[in-house]
Amino acid sequence: MFSHLRIITKQKYETEIATRTAEVCEQIAREMGAEIHDELIQKLTIFSLHLDRLDRATNHPAEIESLLLKMRSDFQGMVSSVRSISRKLMPVNIMNDSFQVSIKLLCKNLEQDGQGQVHFENSGDETETTTQIKKHLYRVVQELIHNAFKHSAAWHVWVRLIWKKEELTIEVEDDGSAFSMLQEQIARLESKHNTLKMRTQAINAHLSFRQGEKGLLATVKYKI
Ligand SMILES: Nc1ncnc2c1ncn2[C@@H]1O[C@H](COP(=O)(O)OP(=O)(O)O)[C@@H](O)[C@H]1O
Ligand SMILES: [Mg+2]
Repeated sequence: MFSHLRIITKQKYETEIATRTAEVCEQIAREMGAEIHDELIQKLTIFSLHLDRLDRATNHPAEIESLLLKMRSDFQGMVSSVRSISRKLMPVNIMNDSFQVSIKLLCKNLEQDGQGQVHFENSGDETETTTQIKKHLYRVVQELIHNAFKHSAAWHVWVRLIWKKEELTIEVEDDGSAFSMLQEQIARLESKHNTLKMRTQAINAHLSFRQGEKGLLATVKYKI
């Protein structure tokens, strides 16, 4: 009787895993779709309108200058969008490196040319975890850094790994958002069923947001 029960439970468990995996894939596709639509298609459309206006403004140097300023900043946004989408599509190669080395490289890769720095700090000794756990945590950090630059106009992002005997704490803090807006943003983040939430739930990690020194401070706690 018990073995029969165990089979049913295993089947249910596998169905649950398959359902969750499908949900995460769906959500990743939706997030990339939104990024392509909002950040690329819309900005490209505006960019072509600006080109038309530029054509007509040949005798108005002040207008040309202001258009160019706007176009340059939109172009930067588009470049960082393409970069972010391509990074999401690239597999995470974590097999050969320790987690802290992978995250350090990620921080370096996500720095915005002349526009944003990502500082990496590690304290304590790394404890070995499975590749699957490392991949989820890596993607969570990637999205948190991406969010900081996209939503908060941050100049600096700090990524801290703190290893204790039985717990890994990851902090991602930015110096972006204005204080007054932050509670609203935190409420928005907490209510959204995004990949941050799905990934942390999948590995039983705890994700929380609060106001940091200047901007948002996201904390992930994972019991090793
Ligand atoms: N670092 C941040 N600073 C300020 N607001 C943020 C930050 N990260 C996220 N947010 C807010 O939370 C919302 C939800 O974020 P997210 O679920 O990642 O969705 P998306 O990035 O696709 O908008 C964002 O639209 C933004 O308003
Ligand atoms: Mg996001």
